[in-house]
Amino acid sequence: EKTIGILTGGGDCPGLNAVIRAVVRKGITAYRYRFRGILKGWKGMMECDWEPLGLEEISGILPKGGTILGTSRTNPFKEEDGGEIVVDNMRRMKLDALVAIGGEDTLGVANKLASMSVPIVGVPKTIDNDLNGTDYTFGFDTAVNIVTEAIDRIHTTAESHNRVMVIEVMGRHSGWIALHAGLAGGADMILIPEQKYTIQEIVSTIRKRHERGKDFSIVVVAEGAQLVSEEGEENKYEGTSYETRVTVLGHLQRGGTPTAFDRVLGTRFGIAAIDLVHAGDFGKMVSLQGNEIVAIPLAEAVNQLKLVDQELYDLATVFFG
Ligand code: F6P
Repeated sequence: EKTIGILTGGGDCPGLNAVIRAVVRKGITAYRYRFRGILKGWKGMMECDWEPLGLEEISGILPKGGTILGTSRTNPFKEEDGGEIVVDNMRRMKLDALVAIGGEDTLGVANKLASMSVPIVGVPKTIDNDLNGTDYTFGFDTAVNIVTEAIDRIHTTAESHNRVMVIEVMGRHSGWIALHAGLAGGADMILIPEQKYTIQEIVSTIRKRHERGKDFSIVVVAEGAQLVSEEGEENKYEGTSYETRVTVLGHLQRGGTPTAFDRVLGTRFGIAAIDLVHAGDFGKMVSLQGNEIVAIPLAEAVNQLKLVDQELYDLATVFFG
């Protein structure tokens, strides 16, 4: 009987429990594996902190947000001999293989461990959807739906008070959430980290809209969006006199129940991941390409970020101003 470890690392994300459930369910019923749930991501691997995961533990978790295993941002390779400690602990915990569910950082660790011959399989996770090598990550659809609903709500109060409403969404490095939710919510301007903006550009877009008779505006801004100042212009810009309010949606976007899409994607990823373990096909990450789940080398996922589709952003600009 083989023993498999499973962990979730980095920021939590709706759909993590769907993956855990699928991995454990198929692993037990089809392959007769035994599971150890590693607690709090790589922190648990460093400290041999785990609990048994059986059919009982995964019962009822599909619609639950967060992760039943807990998570942390611990990165073993940022600690002395961290990699070696994890390799030793694999042996100490009697793990024959490990399934690591996480984003760039977590999968970066998985990739390094794979090169140290640790039998490991990765599952991509981020609400930001900026992980390379997969068309979508679970959690993104949920976040986009939450933000879209928030935009709709802010729309009616914006209209009533003739205000400019700025809505800040998550996305440190990429504007996927801002772009998709901005499009879905009919934003009048979407600001993303992939583009550079001057304050003058933003002001003139809003002013243009108000000059054609609109008396409110919705601006969706990704938290990582950058304002550049024109040479020597920093403090000279002329703002608008429109009354403005800012809403920061923050962790609302990461909490709560996953959408049906994310539950299905998480389930498909989980099944594919445990099939890779069974096939002994390690050092890989499951990924969605088109409508197919495929396996790609972990290294491909962690080399670079997947930035927003420029064509889609250009399309959105039709609705600006
Ligand atoms: O990477 C996911 C993400 O939700 C980002 O969009 C956001 O900037 C960050 O995590 C926030 O992380 P924390 O959990 O540290 O607040």
